[in-house]
Amino acid sequence: MSKTALITGASGGIGYELALLFARDGFDCIVVARSQDKLRELATRIEREHHVKTLVIGKDLSKPTAVDEIYEETTAAGLAVDVLVSRPTCRSNSRCCRSMSSR
Ligand SMILES: NC(=O)c1ccc[n+]([C@@H]2O[C@H](COP(=O)([O-])OP(=O)(O)OC[C@H]3O[C@@H](n4cnc5c(N)ncnc54)[C@H](OP(=O)(O)O)[C@@H]3O)[C@@H](O)[C@H]2O)c1
Repeated sequence: MSKTALITGASGGIGYELALLFARDGFDCIVVARSQDKLRELATRIEREHHVKTLVIGKDLSKPTAVDEIYEETTAAGLAVDVLVSRPTCRSNSRCCRSMSSR
């Protein structure tokens, strides 16, 4: 059974490269950032090169409702998160990270 990684900040930089690495290792990927167009390009690349499923979620993580909305979208897509990669600038003790990790 395939595993799923949720990667925030996946539209560029380290998050983008990590999404490619998880996909290469066979993980389905949920990619999150504000720039949906960049995430869609990444999803197309992932699916073409690594043949895993990718869910794009355009979301501003600074908004207090973001984590609940991400949870709802992943659940609606029938995905359970095995690995959470949270953008480092999202501080590990922030409400956002604590909430995502506890789900
Ligand atoms: N220790 C080291 O040697 C080292 C080396 C390199 C980097 N770093 C650190 O690692 C972290 C990641 O670096 P990075 O190069 O990947 O750049 P970054 O600027 O921290 O992250 C960029 C990603 O975060 C997303 N993002 C930014 N604000 C967001 C928000 N409010 N909601 C949702 N997504 C948001 C951006 O997408 P959107 O703009 O599309 O939302 C983009 O995908 C940084 O904190 C950097 O300082 C450390």
